[in-house]
Amino acid sequence: MTLQEVRKKYVAFFESQDHALIPSAGLQPENDATTLFTGSGMQPLLPHLLGEKHPKGTRLVNSQKCFRAEDIDEVGDNRHTTFFEMLGNWSLGDYFKKEQLPWFYTFLTKEVGLDPARLYITVFSGDPENNIPADVESVAIWKDLFKKDGIDAHDIELLTEEQGGEQGMQGGRIFYFDAKKNWWSRAGEPQHMPAGEPGGPDSEVFFDFHPELGEKCVIEGYGTYCHPNCDCGRFMEIGNNVFMQYIKKEDGSFEELPQKNIDFGGGLERIVAAKNNDDDVFTIDVFANLIREIETLSNISYKGDQQISFRIIADHVRGAVFMLSDGIMPTNTDAGYVTRRLLRRAIIHLNKLEVGSEALVALSKHVIKAYGDTYTSLAEKKDVIEATLLAEHTKFSSTLKSGLKRFEKIRGDLVSAEDAFVLFTTYGFPIEMTEELAEEKGMKVDMEGFKKKMEDHRKTSRAGAEHKFKGGLADTSAKTTMLHTATHLMLAGLRKYLGDDVHQAGSNITEERTRFDFTHNEKVNRDTLDKVEAYVNEAISAKADVAIEQMPKTEAKEKGVEGSFWEKYPDVVNVYVIKDDHGVVWSQELCGGPHVKNTGDIKGAFTIGTEKASSAGVRRVKATLETV
Ligand code: ALA
Repeated sequence: MTLQEVRKKYVAFFESQDHALIPSAGLQPENDATTLFTGSGMQPLLPHLLGEKHPKGTRLVNSQKCFRAEDIDEVGDNRHTTFFEMLGNWSLGDYFKKEQLPWFYTFLTKEVGLDPARLYITVFSGDPENNIPADVESVAIWKDLFKKDGIDAHDIELLTEEQGGEQGMQGGRIFYFDAKKNWWSRAGEPQHMPAGEPGGPDSEVFFDFHPELGEKCVIEGYGTYCHPNCDCGRFMEIGNNVFMQYIKKEDGSFEELPQKNIDFGGGLERIVAAKNNDDDVFTIDVFANLIREIETLSNISYKGDQQISFRIIADHVRGAVFMLSDGIMPTNTDAGYVTRRLLRRAIIHLNKLEVGSEALVALSKHVIKAYGDTYTSLAEKKDVIEATLLAEHTKFSSTLKSGLKRFEKIRGDLVSAEDAFVLFTTYGFPIEMTEELAEEKGMKVDMEGFKKKMEDHRKTSRAGAEHKFKGGLADTSAKTTMLHTATHLMLAGLRKYLGDDVHQAGSNITEERTRFDFTHNEKVNRDTLDKVEAYVNEAISAKADVAIEQMPKTEAKEKGVEGSFWEKYPDVVNVYVIKDDHGVVWSQELCGGPHVKNTGDIKGAFTIGTEKASSAGVRRVKATLETV
């Protein structure tokens, strides 16, 4: 089966149980400052799990795009990926265990057609400290389900991974594990949850890829015996039924939520792999053409030790393409840093297979093709994605070879802070990459020293940036100040017509003109420039007030205030808000001034002249205030 087929079957199955299909939210959480990325289906639905009414009702189904940056280093084995799709069905205070478990079981065994004899279950063993009982109810439901298929399902208490490894499965099918394994909340186990956080026991379903292997674990480094939570890769978790029914109180105790919810998360790729009876998720259809293309380009087959590089390239290209389609452009900080890290790590592994990094573009086409029907933004953003990959390739491939040479020169078993810093600043090696290269050679990196150097570097560049900002405005004459305010309006206009990926990349303003650099991957046509020009002139005619508002940085970000280099600003920031009498906000941007008090003070017709490339991924415009 293909990924698309399984996704469709899942959605159709739950639609037939009166669920409404909802679209996937973006990879960057909108109202959740706790994480950089959406890493589970429940994050975007949190308010509704806590009681807020959902416009589509109380039964929902979806497939959510997820990204787990914490898994980057795990990629290379048969099952870990950074990006994945999580199938979800949701009861918002509607049905509960006795509907959920049979539905999922039926979906797996009847719709997908998995052999029930290869499914194993884990359930929650209880938490006496918090007065939360063992999940005997789920055990009874599971037993019934297996019984109907002629399977006598015994329950066994294992509690921890360690005990599992010591005792083995003992002929059981359903296993009690403690909160470390069978409790779900965004923060993990009950004791790690902050007050106000919802969570609950869960019941996970595993697929046995190698029933022929018997009771003992055949892979060295794990327990004596194998069991569902053994990390050797034989059993793969394919779905998690979370009974989201508790909330943590201020005093640390737990109480039942007013509504009992189901938060189900299914690993789409893994279910496809189970159906295909191949424990390598990289063999499923969405990766097939990617892997084949790497084979062709490298003239190396996908097997043996080289498989790791194939998997890293395939995973990272897919992840980066999805990031880019959600507007997470490569940068040196925050979420964009992860996009850059993915691409640079993919480039390193392409290099290992002696493939040039221009291949990124060819590989991205396979991702877009495999997913384009479902995620239309991939095709819509195809040009931006390709241009960005090309830009990243150009930027990094020129320094990669010399950086690797520089790395090879390092002697001894420690990469000094100085070396790591030079690799970072001069050759663009993300620190994690230097660590990885070092590890391959049995070396360590002086991370403490590196962090200190980075901190010093940040302080100096901050001082530099402050200085540069003053230099951004040649003077504080009335004419320059007018152009400065007009430049804010122009940026707002550019973002309105070109999208939220546009940010300031530099400015230089004199009495005569503003020269402005901004992030964007392609030429801006005259038509759009005219629209931006009109936007600024309209704002000028609107005689809008320019006011400084002070607010916490987090609040400014939430409000969608425009700014680049956020990390350089203090916790409380100055936001220049340009708002007219009708309440229209023409611009809100982080800034240090100076500005005119009212846009009506700007004299002249704002006119955009030339537009051209400034550097990779950055465009430059010049604009003036023409006397009228
Ligand atoms: N929220 C659950 C998970 O992410 C389904 O595993």
